[in-house]
Amino acid sequence: MTSPAASSSPVDFCGIELAHPVINASGTFDAIAARRAFGDALIERFPFAAFVSKTVTVAPREGNPPPRLWELPAGLMNSIGLPNKGLEGYLTHDLPELARLPVPLIVNVMGFSRDEVARLVSAFAERDEVAALELNVSCPNVETGLVMGADPGEVARLVSAVRPLTDKPLIVKLTPNASDVPAVASAAEREGASAVSLINTIRGMAVHPRTGEPWLGGTTGGVSGPAVRAIALAQVRSVADAVDIPVIGMGGVTHGRHAHDLIGAGAALVAVGTESFRDPSAGTRIASELALAGTGPHPPPHHCGRGLAELRG
Ligand SMILES: Cc1cc2nc3c(=O)[nH]c(=O)nc-3n(C[C@H](O)[C@H](O)[C@H](O)COP(=O)(O)O)c2cc1C
Repeated sequence: MTSPAASSSPVDFCGIELAHPVINASGTFDAIAARRAFGDALIERFPFAAFVSKTVTVAPREGNPPPRLWELPAGLMNSIGLPNKGLEGYLTHDLPELARLPVPLIVNVMGFSRDEVARLVSAFAERDEVAALELNVSCPNVETGLVMGADPGEVARLVSAVRPLTDKPLIVKLTPNASDVPAVASAAEREGASAVSLINTIRGMAVHPRTGEPWLGGTTGGVSGPAVRAIALAQVRSVADAVDIPVIGMGGVTHGRHAHDLIGAGAALVAVGTESFRDPSAGTRIASELALAGTGPHPPPHHCGRGLAELRG
């Protein structure tokens, strides 16, 4: 297997040095379980240039009832429901293990109110092990009933509330289930987001072949994998045209060529999600294929939003 570090150029992402431009998509690669299965080989040959955690919420969550998965002709639909140990459990059990990975750690967080997101951002702001934060805004704000990431005003209020709480790069993970995704991205940029990432999964549904009832325990689920690639490419391009901050592109990447296409559409980094379930070393392979796809030298680093000093000044 070719080492991606040997075949791809390093990338500067908001001041974080990455060995290559391929990272994992949140929730699709369990580094702790992989380390248990593959031992130190995983540490020596980590497939991604940075590790993005699964979404962490303030309170522990059990996730949705089963069934949680439905296979599609070209992808996957999941209604996992963000099970996690909650903030305290993550800080005690997961963070010390993830801090041992040989790549920068990006923690993905989600809250059901601005106060919850602020609590999460403040908690991770103090931790040197954490290089950057990703805000998953695909959930409803219990105070307004609006899906945070579907509405530019909601996103603007959220980012302006949490931006002053940390110096770390703040990535806003956009939902594709919004009528004007570039408007949401622009609102995040205006309020000081360092970068945006997209796409999250697209809402879908499957019906039980015998009962006619919804198949998934959560009724609807999120579609990912090759089925969403064309949509991801279009959304990444329209968002990259609308903002100056870096864009992390994802959705259906299974080959370096797809990563190359997303970079061509304006992405600074590419994330691999569903493909890692099929091929746990997909990150390494895709980074090598991307280098061969001939992207040439990487463009100069984007300006990563406003820093704290600028906001305070
Ligand atoms: C099983 C599964 C779990 C996921 N969990 C999360 C999550 O915890 N947080 C999040 O922001 N996105 C989550 N996602 C969305 C992915 O990070 C990614 O945005 C999406 O799957 C598109 O990329 P892909 O087509 O390469 O999988 C999940 C996706 C899948 C398939």
